[in-house]
Amino acid sequence: MERTFLMVKPDGVQRNLIGEIVARFEKKGFQLVGAKLMNISTELASEHYGEHKERPFFGELVDFITSGPVFAMVWQGENVITTARQMMGSTNPKDAAPGTIRGDFGLTVGKNVIHGSDSPASAQREIGIFFNEAELAEYTKIV
Ligand code: CMP
Repeated sequence: MERTFLMVKPDGVQRNLIGEIVARFEKKGFQLVGAKLMNISTELASEHYGEHKERPFFGELVDFITSGPVFAMVWQGENVITTARQMMGSTNPKDAAPGTIRGDFGLTVGKNVIHGSDSPASAQREIGIFFNEAELAEYTKIV
């Protein structure tokens, strides 16, 4: 079963959008297998966003993601990586279609409400950074 890492960013948590965002993925039919409200350390932020280290906005990105609690999640289901990104909308909310999470709730590229893994390799890496195996639930015994 394909899995992805999704995270409501500090702006989304502060604006009380956790429930709205979780509801969208639940209603789509995906299964939540892990979730926690947490603060991200500078070290964790640097590891998570390592591929952006050389970008001019890296400092801003780390400052923002460590500025308040995030809601980290693991979801599973058919094509969840690609479909979740479609449901999130374009990275820059000004380009995100209405009906997507960023299109409906975001205004700027920095504070764009939600993060989602962009490939199977990123999903595996990001899930491993944020969650232990013991924190992930299993549905296999449900008949
Ligand atoms: P995310 O999917 O979390 O992955 C990297 C993040 O960098 C991206 O969402 C944006 O929020 C952020 N980002 C991209 N471009 C810029 C920018 N020009 N200024 C600030 N943040 C940016």
